[in-house]
Amino acid sequence: MDYDIKDIGLATTGQLRIEWASKSMPVLNSIKERFSKDKPLSGLRISACLHITTETAVLARTLKAGGASVALCASNPLSTQDDVAASLVAVDKIPVFAIKGEDTDTYYSHILSPLKNMPNLTMDDGADLVSSLHFIALDKWDDVSQGIREWGLSLTQGERNALIAGVMGGTEETTTGVIRLRSMERDNVLQFPVISVNDANTKHLFDNRYGTGQSTIDGIIRATNRLLAGSHFVVCGYGWCGRGVAARAKGHGAKVIICEVDPLKALEAVMDGFDVMPIAKAAKIGDFFCTLTGDINAISKEHFLDMRDGAIISNSGHFNVELDLPGLAEVSTSRRKIREFVEEYTLQNGNRVYLLGEGRLINLAAAEGHPSSVMDMSFANQALSMEYLSKEHKNLDKRVYPVPLIIDQEIARLKLVSMGVEIDSLTPEQEKYLSSWEMGT
Ligand code: NAI
Repeated sequence: MDYDIKDIGLATTGQLRIEWASKSMPVLNSIKERFSKDKPLSGLRISACLHITTETAVLARTLKAGGASVALCASNPLSTQDDVAASLVAVDKIPVFAIKGEDTDTYYSHILSPLKNMPNLTMDDGADLVSSLHFIALDKWDDVSQGIREWGLSLTQGERNALIAGVMGGTEETTTGVIRLRSMERDNVLQFPVISVNDANTKHLFDNRYGTGQSTIDGIIRATNRLLAGSHFVVCGYGWCGRGVAARAKGHGAKVIICEVDPLKALEAVMDGFDVMPIAKAAKIGDFFCTLTGDINAISKEHFLDMRDGAIISNSGHFNVELDLPGLAEVSTSRRKIREFVEEYTLQNGNRVYLLGEGRLINLAAAEGHPSSVMDMSFANQALSMEYLSKEHKNLDKRVYPVPLIIDQEIARLKLVSMGVEIDSLTPEQEKYLSSWEMGT
């Protein structure tokens, strides 16, 4: 079996950590049990580009139990848990191509490896796998790394067409990936149906909000060991992730400031009790900064120069482009690593600012990503969407689809059951009342 990981010797630690995560993933485990019996993914090849974490390992095992052959690569150079990668290879015999801290060329050569498997189904977190596949098939080489270009060009056009024609469909985990896929759909280049797992209610309302909220604060605290209480904590972007981080920072006693571009979100932040202001103003006040916008340069060069001496800067959005890092380097006279995941930049004006985790998603770079209990729902959506695509792909167009409502609702129901929470159901009288317009008082 071909694979590329840091050290196979880490497998035992990884196995124990996967076991620990699995205990908080009852919904995914119930799907795994059914998959083991029914084998709905029998004979299918799944190539997945995900953060290589303990929860991803539980998902990969579920897909394998369903009969699929699975190959994994990382969806971010800094998010891989090397012991988990080792355990997947050594114990589960699942090929993994991911090493924490890999450089950009290695990252893309790792994306290539599961593509060479000629996947029937793809799974993405940020759309790097699907976009690479499309660049190869569509003969577009401008934005691909050298490794991908070389391999792609070694295939005939017929082979490249066959590569993409063999894909029944894919899934996408995160907001940024969905934005990229919608743009592919708009440009009429998307070659197979993709299900936007991110848009399922049982995904973004919980994973993006509570998962990113808790784990981002966890990453910032692990990296810095600084006290949040009494500090000014600036959150850029008040979407599902931003509101989770803002709520948790407030819970730690920080004075939270929100920067937004959408008037509706900004208004919500105001009414949730936060200070709202442009980044140009917030830059002068903040002790901590965290971007979660899915956008480019939410904090730019001039903002770094306005920051207080000692300001701590992080990003928890999908790509590190949310921070203008080339701009930061430009206005700095020197930089040094001061502790793990903390780099000190001395600016031209003599102030020092501290960049966490190279600007990569801080919850995965310096902590362990989302808690398993929340990934239980996100990955239940992934597993059931794979099953759905394998059955329904012939009836789907080359578009971005939502997770079918019936799957979303079933996951919410199963999660409640697993938590021992009972709820009411509508009486026939209430059902009638809610569906009729004739009844008033
Ligand atoms: P969202 O679309 O719900 O929210 C993004 C918000 O940022 C929007 O309200 C938008 O108006 C605002 N925004 C855009 N440009 C801005 C700018 N220049 N300045 C200030 N605000 C701006 O997206 P969501 O779900 O909150 O995701 C945000 C990012 O986090 C995405 O890149 C997503 O892929 C990523 N993500 C990261 C996770 C992690 O584990 N760290 C988990 C889930 C998502």
